[in-house]
Amino acid sequence: MKIKFIYLFISIAISFSVTAQINTIEVDSDGKSWNITTLLSGYRLEVNENGEVGVSCFGNKLNLEKSGGIIAPEIQLRGGHVAYTPMLEVIFPDGVREIELEYKTYEITEIDDYPTLKIIQKDKFYPMEVTTFIRVLSEYDMIEKWIEVFNTGKKGSIKIENMQSGSVFLPKDKYELTHYSGVWGYEFTPHKTILTQGIKTLQVKNFKSYGSSSFVVRPENEVDKYSGKVWFGSLSYSGNWRIDFDKSFDGTVQIVGGMNFWDQELNLKPQQKISSPRILFGYTENGTEGVTKSLTSFAKEKLLPASHRNKIRPVLYNSWYATTFDVNEEHQLALAKVAKEIGVEMFVIDDGWFKNRVNDKAGLGDWTVDKNKFPNGLSPMIEKINDMGLDFGIWIEPEMVNPNSDLYRVHPDWVFHFPNRIRLENRNQLLLNLAREDVYQYLYKCFHELLKENNIKFIKWDMNKALTNPGFPSAPTEEQRAVRIKYVENLYRLVETLRKEFPDVWFENCSSGGGRIDFAMMSRFDFNWVSDNTDPVDRIFIQDSYLTLFPANTMISWVTQEDWHRMNPALEFKFDVCMAGVLGVGYDITKWNEAERKIASKKISQYKTIREITMQGDVYRIVSPYDENRNVIQYVDKVKKKSVIFAYNLAEYPDNTHEVLKYSQLIKLRGLLPDKIYKIDDFKETFSGKYLMESGITLPLRGAYKSKIYSVEVVE
Ligand code: DGJ
Repeated sequence: MKIKFIYLFISIAISFSVTAQINTIEVDSDGKSWNITTLLSGYRLEVNENGEVGVSCFGNKLNLEKSGGIIAPEIQLRGGHVAYTPMLEVIFPDGVREIELEYKTYEITEIDDYPTLKIIQKDKFYPMEVTTFIRVLSEYDMIEKWIEVFNTGKKGSIKIENMQSGSVFLPKDKYELTHYSGVWGYEFTPHKTILTQGIKTLQVKNFKSYGSSSFVVRPENEVDKYSGKVWFGSLSYSGNWRIDFDKSFDGTVQIVGGMNFWDQELNLKPQQKISSPRILFGYTENGTEGVTKSLTSFAKEKLLPASHRNKIRPVLYNSWYATTFDVNEEHQLALAKVAKEIGVEMFVIDDGWFKNRVNDKAGLGDWTVDKNKFPNGLSPMIEKINDMGLDFGIWIEPEMVNPNSDLYRVHPDWVFHFPNRIRLENRNQLLLNLAREDVYQYLYKCFHELLKENNIKFIKWDMNKALTNPGFPSAPTEEQRAVRIKYVENLYRLVETLRKEFPDVWFENCSSGGGRIDFAMMSRFDFNWVSDNTDPVDRIFIQDSYLTLFPANTMISWVTQEDWHRMNPALEFKFDVCMAGVLGVGYDITKWNEAERKIASKKISQYKTIREITMQGDVYRIVSPYDENRNVIQYVDKVKKKSVIFAYNLAEYPDNTHEVLKYSQLIKLRGLLPDKIYKIDDFKETFSGKYLMESGITLPLRGAYKSKIYSVEVVE
């Protein structure tokens, strides 16, 4: 008899349709095999005759029965045949370096509202238990995996040399990988590569991603944006990470990811447990659009901090590009006055407000207000800003210290360092060793007081220096190489503690632009500063990739004077670009003339009429700037009655040139109701949803670096 116990879990899937979904983890009658299914995908685990837990390929659930059975152990180990990239490598106290696991038991439980299968295995000889967690996010067609390692012994530590979060195997085929990597100013650049026999590794070794651990793998010839098989995923971790795509000669691909154990180890003491970060794996047959829908809907509906998840994000002003470090009360108030006039709702003072912070050479670590700049402290200025009808936000960079600071003079041992080795600075700063409890307590106290004493409603949390010299010389030797793990734990703890104590405050994640954006930060921060590159043309590319992976209500974009390519784009164009996410303004707006203020007011008013759709609706990337010389993004509200189209022309080629004739100018919309009639700005006639989606329209937008935001609405 095949299926005996079915674990039912009813949830309302708001994202895809308002119907009850049934997630199942099915257990065979012998209690030794499990079918895990989402709406579309399936994954099977079995205990074989030797008591080992093995898995089938991950893919369409219809293939579960004919998947050819078990192809690999669920946890690939160092030990036995060396056939896969190992997920777990340990050294037992007697020096043995191989693991032999056998099945112990299983449990089906609920974690964060989703059914979760726990498979517990133990070493055949040594006191070590390893639990696999598989959380089934059915309506998003994703599973979330992680493992826990438990030293069940009474004496002797187990040295963990590698502990990955999870893996999946793809069926034999030829595959192309897309990943999103970059560098400062060019975050999230999509790269495509064919997977050939061997290992393709994506990794971070210095805490700076400038991209994402997210990946998309498709059979080589599947190019359709809206259909075709795709395997995808992302690691929820903000420290060093690693994802391997290990392709064997026969075409099977193992995808395995987790913390990067390069220069890292962990000694697990008796009775101690450690959990890995979580990794998402998804499968869709709706092309890249399916990937976007799964990842962005999950983040928007289930992951973002619950207190602010469904709130409309405010229009921001940020002073950085206007003033850099040269901030003072008078000028900030002047900026706030204009900000209010043009429709801003949250006024954020960036870097430069604290003691001795006249440039980037001093001040970090001493989190008290600079009395030369703000003789009365922050509160009187905040009150005046509040009186104007604006909320107030502030920039901090908790994890850093300038050598020229009181903190460093008193505690030079609080930074990462090795004796007899250089302390590498970037931007004249060093990284505090947040693995230390005293550093954690100091930072907690500083920011608890800052938030308690001032009416601050928004924190921009920056992190500018990459990790170097990760030494913690005063820690016991056996703990020294676990320092990065503890650091990230304490980082999460600090954000979570402050959020709990100050539940009204918005938190923005920044790391010299988009240097630390991932789904773990996404569960703790409301927004991301995606890039320091605010040039609107570059931004169009960065935003297109970002919106493939992350929701629009987390993407902060400011309109600034930056013009990296000397194109002198119009102010309207800049606004239109930033309006695709959470709109901000970053100019010295006190210098704006009447006409510029008018444009800004008009654009911000327009933004307020559409932001609910962009923030809460579904995003469709209709034309990517990476494919054509323009960019078209569409957002559709939940009931599909309202939509917004953002259209941006890049450089334009003359009519009828080869470059123009190469592409269809027709725009086929997505996600509408076929039988409803819609009206679109600038069009006299109306269209059925079916027509708009199947025949398409040509947008009347002409000229290089021109843009237009079209509102689409059901009229019948
Ligand atoms: C880097 C950030 O990305 C910028 O937006 C700004 O906050 C500066 N740091 C301030 O030092």
